[in-house]
Amino acid sequence: MVIAIDGPAGTGKSTVARAVAERLGFTYLDTGAMYRAVALAADRTGRPPAEVAEHVDIELGAHVLLAGEDVTEAIRTPEVTAATSHVAADPAVRQALVAKQKAIVADGDWVAEGRDIGTVVAPDAAVKVFLTATPEERAKRRAKQTGGEYETILRDQAERDERDSTADRAIFEAPADSVPVDTTELTLDQVIDQIATLVVEAKEIGA
Ligand code: DC
Repeated sequence: MVIAIDGPAGTGKSTVARAVAERLGFTYLDTGAMYRAVALAADRTGRPPAEVAEHVDIELGAHVLLAGEDVTEAIRTPEVTAATSHVAADPAVRQALVAKQKAIVADGDWVAEGRDIGTVVAPDAAVKVFLTATPEERAKRRAKQTGGEYETILRDQAERDERDSTADRAIFEAPADSVPVDTTELTLDQVIDQIATLVVEAKEIGA
């Protein structure tokens, strides 16, 4: 079974997806980490991101390994974050990584998190959640998480949102059959409870 969790940056996707996976005993798939690792590897080697995506050796788990090297921290710097949003706009990069992601979630129970899980990676996911929050709340959370400056984060976030929503990237829109969850006023536990309820319902329907 796949639980797809999509939504823009700063809506709590990673925290929520990780916690839901833990509660249900599913495996967590952070697809953003794959795009980040490709951006880092392309920057380091100077090779075209599409070529890197095709051959990249990434291991996901408690730590993110790029060709065996622990890059958990290195992929989260503001520089790599900015570069990633450009790299992820390349259709050839997306094609290569989506193929890998589809293969990963083909068997077993997954909580997959990203931007295009419910639309592209796992269109048949049993549960599709689309997390939202106000831009101010998203920037506030990022600032708290990274220690960065709120105003800068808010501005960079608006630029990235703009790139992420250009015409050919309609995949970033909420899947028509997803359940929107506005996390602005909710605690983490409340969000997890809502998703867990959706999973119970999906299992009942599927049974
Ligand atoms: O969720 P995140 O901040 O780790 O994502 C990093 C970048 O990768 C962000 O610019 C969006 C992009 N991304 C994507 O295009 N598709 C995904 N499935 C996941 C992330």
